[in-house]
Amino acid sequence: MAPLISLRDLRKTFVNGDVAVEVLRGVSLDIYPGEFVAIVGASGSGKSTLMNILGCLDTPTGGQYRLEGEDVSDLDADQLAERRRQMFGFVFQSYNLVSTATAQENVEIPAVYAGVPARERRERAESLLRSLNLGERLDHLPNQLSGGQQQRVSIARALMNGGQIILADEPTGALDTQSGKDVMATLRQMNEAGHTVIIITHAPELAESADRVIEISDGRITADRLPRKRSRIGRIAPPPSSAAKVRLRSSPTYPRPFACPSGHFGPISFVPS
Ligand SMILES: Nc1ncnc2c1ncn2[C@@H]1O[C@H](COP(=O)(O)OP(=O)(O)OP(=O)(O)O)[C@@H](O)[C@H]1O
Ligand SMILES: [Mg+2]
Repeated sequence: MAPLISLRDLRKTFVNGDVAVEVLRGVSLDIYPGEFVAIVGASGSGKSTLMNILGCLDTPTGGQYRLEGEDVSDLDADQLAERRRQMFGFVFQSYNLVSTATAQENVEIPAVYAGVPARERRERAESLLRSLNLGERLDHLPNQLSGGQQQRVSIARALMNGGQIILADEPTGALDTQSGKDVMATLRQMNEAGHTVIIITHAPELAESADRVIEISDGRITADRLPRKRSRIGRIAPPPSSAAKVRLRSSPTYPRPFACPSGHFGPISFVPS
């Protein structure tokens, strides 16, 4: 299987005036479709910088990033935006929900930018929210939802355009322990439905419940290992040994713009084979 993400000697230096800060100092890494990866490291070690580059929100200053085999440095700004929209779903610590928009409207936003007709995006948003147990909260504003519920809305939003790769930067950082575990369980569920999940976390018990743990220190990978002790967090069902074993039920009526490159469109329903 070819890697979905392949980094070779990736570097990032920020220059502010006369000061150059070397933040990523040669990161080499392959991530395969269907993986569930946790990235851990001290504050300031370069995790978010790496995540922003992975999600095509920022560009490296050296080395190579291949996304599905394509060298990202060959892409112009519009092409990068297109990859971002088509391939990635972002989840942030601070949820980043629009405070004046309902849960449903928030989830619809990426599809608005993708030019999806109103009725289709409404149906898809509602379906996603129902699948994340938020069917009773469609018309609630963010401030009428708990932190865990807001984070599940942001996960639904991340899946709106397909979200083949979910990039989550400290998604549980603002949550109490139980809500954090619930959000992790939701991400695990998405992973079992075929999404590749890459999560940054400071919580060791959450990191160790991933399938692979990458440790970063001072802009370098210092460990790339299996979790120390398999925790049960997020393991709703026995995990498939590979994403290929998960048979997704795709909607024949769903429009192309939502489709993952695999031809499946998302996690609303899935049946382990
Ligand atoms: N735009 C920027 N200009 C200059 N320096 C930056 C910029 N963005 C990040 N940095 C620096 O890069 C380093 C790594 O930042 P980054 O946000 O990647 O860390 P992190 O590992 O995500 O930390 P945390 O766990 O606190 O979120 C920090 O020293 C930070 O100050
Ligand atoms: Mg960070």
